[in-house]
Amino acid sequence: MCFEDDGPSLSMSFTRLLSTLSLVLVVSAGNLVQYEQRKSAPVGFTSKGPAGDDHPLTLSFGLASNNIAGLHEKLASISKPGNPDFRKWLSADEVKSFVAPSDEAVKAFNSFASANGLKTTSTSPFGEWVTVSLPVAKANKLFGAKYTNFTHADVPEPIMRTLSMSLPSELVGHIDVVHPSTAFTVPNTRPRKSIQFDGAPKREATAPESCNVNDSNPGNVLTPACLQALYNIPTTPATQENNPLLVTGYANEWAQINDLQSFMKEFRPDYPAGANQTFLRLAIDGGTNPQWPGAAGIEAQLDVEYAAGIATGVPLHFLTVGGWDFSKALFDTTAYVASSPVPPTVMTTSYGDQEANFGPALATKICDGYAAASARGVSILFASGDGGVNGNHDSGFNCGLFVSVFPASCPYVTTVGSTIGFGPEIAVNFTGGGFSEVFPQPSYQTAAVDAFLKTIPDDFPKFNRAGRGYPDISLQGWNYLITANEEVGAVSGTSASSPTVAAMISLVNDKLLAAGKPVLGFLNPFIYANLSVFNDVVTGHNSGWRCPATTAAFDAAEGWDPLSGVGTPDYERLLAAALAG
Ligand SMILES: *[C@@H]1O[C@H](CO)[C@@H](O)[C@H](O)[C@H]1NC(C)=O
Ligand SMILES: *[C@@H]1O[C@H](CO)[C@@H](O)[C@H](O)[C@H]1NC(C)=O
Ligand SMILES: *[C@@H]1O[C@H](CO)[C@@H](O)[C@H](O)[C@H]1NC(C)=O
Ligand SMILES: *[C@@H]1O[C@H](CO)[C@@H](O)[C@H](O)[C@H]1NC(C)=O
Ligand SMILES: *[C@@H]1O[C@H](CO)[C@@H](O)[C@H](O)[C@H]1NC(C)=O
Repeated sequence: MCFEDDGPSLSMSFTRLLSTLSLVLVVSAGNLVQYEQRKSAPVGFTSKGPAGDDHPLTLSFGLASNNIAGLHEKLASISKPGNPDFRKWLSADEVKSFVAPSDEAVKAFNSFASANGLKTTSTSPFGEWVTVSLPVAKANKLFGAKYTNFTHADVPEPIMRTLSMSLPSELVGHIDVVHPSTAFTVPNTRPRKSIQFDGAPKREATAPESCNVNDSNPGNVLTPACLQALYNIPTTPATQENNPLLVTGYANEWAQINDLQSFMKEFRPDYPAGANQTFLRLAIDGGTNPQWPGAAGIEAQLDVEYAAGIATGVPLHFLTVGGWDFSKALFDTTAYVASSPVPPTVMTTSYGDQEANFGPALATKICDGYAAASARGVSILFASGDGGVNGNHDSGFNCGLFVSVFPASCPYVTTVGSTIGFGPEIAVNFTGGGFSEVFPQPSYQTAAVDAFLKTIPDDFPKFNRAGRGYPDISLQGWNYLITANEEVGAVSGTSASSPTVAAMISLVNDKLLAAGKPVLGFLNPFIYANLSVFNDVVTGHNSGWRCPATTAAFDAAEGWDPLSGVGTPDYERLLAAALAG
């Protein structure tokens, strides 16, 4: 790995720090203990100097949960085929009993807050996130920090971050994370426009009515009809009402109902109700979703159009999350979904950033939020990133570096990569994949991933062989026709693959619910126990979109590989395996 120069250098992970402390035992109150630090901000961020002493800063404290290991254990049990409690998903109260902070953590935080005159401004439904507002100078003093303003081209206002953060010793062990501090993250939407939008309003339909699924021409455009033909997806409408499919929207990506309806009219003419297709708009953190000409976000439009276009008749929800702090947007989303009285059955997200930009403590806390939502029975799908082995999307500068993407690397989400071509499918060069630097290999994937690791030659560049391998599965990701701002164009990326897989899962859930069975929920243990559901993808090299194809990267192989996962799902076989449970 060679990202030390521009990447973060995390002095010591907090967990490791804790175990050191438990040996040393006594640390007197008021002492500052290094929490995390990085040498410099990640590439793309520019320092604009001190944030200003009097400027208010809102800090979110992630309190140590009461029994997070218990949650992991319970989730492993209820998601494992064959177990007596298989798919007995938990209620909000049951999840809360694991996730809520321990009494000691609450006590430690409250006495620290009252000793320092800090007032709680908000608390998450399970209590694991507590927010306070304080002046920058006070935060600098309390946490040995130096809050500085940084700008980034994709973020409209400066963000306040510090390169070094400490915790008062009395909070050590009780606070998992303080945010914002050393995490520098942006959502990195950007599916590629592979065929330019033509500028002509309401273009006449040129979409093929169906696809020749034996045509290996990678220039083919994809429509719902093609994907239905390729993966044996039914066109008949779902029947169950209590089966929402949630599409998340970050970074002011707004989904337009007009464009969705034009898309359905043009590309799902067989489903007349599609012309009235809409979605329930949900919002947190002041998120908005205005409907006006020109407001369509390419990512949002792609996500809702393929969710609706494939999941015929499934109730569609669009969650718009306000603000530009991607990390906060993610943990607020997990807190919202995990505590929801009626959570969605499937959720898809096509955003991500380099794992190292979060830092291990924050990535771990957010990932535990996905574990909590998974335990409620939500299937959580994430796009694997569009930079091959080289992170979220290749900047073109870092060819040959192995950089992992989060939340794709979280073991409690199902990560989706991209293929291209129909006969046979090939893992496309940009498909994000690799091994987490933070999360160890989960046991559900040991057999599949270890078989792949055996194929890696000794002289291969270094990567974290012990890490969680991703993606888990894949699906077509090239040249999806979409409608945005009344134009039709084609876009490519794992951003396209994730909503399409999510829609397939929703259709399976519809059948499970109709049969009086529980929904699929956390998918990974089921996926790795049912490899025959998937079309194996055995060719491809994920060196990235722009990096020369000779650049070091992984190669697709028989069985699991970090480009296509275990392969692409066949709906009929997926349904059969699901009903067998
Ligand atoms: C730092 O950024 C914030 C916005 O996030 C801004 O309100 C503040 O004025 C900036 N501070 C300085 C010193 O420019
Ligand atoms: C694709 O090829 C298979 C086997 O080669 C054949 O059975 C099938 O009919 C072909 N499908 C189409 C749509 O041409
Ligand atoms: C679509 O909505 C219109 C107006 O509300 C209604 O007249 C029409 O029957 C609807 N079409 C379908 C197929 O639901
Ligand atoms: C990556 O794949 C796409 C799709 O086939 C292709 O257009 C592009 O040229 C490829 N990039 C490289 C560097 O080979
Ligand atoms: C597939 O998943 C089902 C649960 O839906 C499980 O019962 C079965 O054991 C799994 N494996 C195989 C090989 O069928």
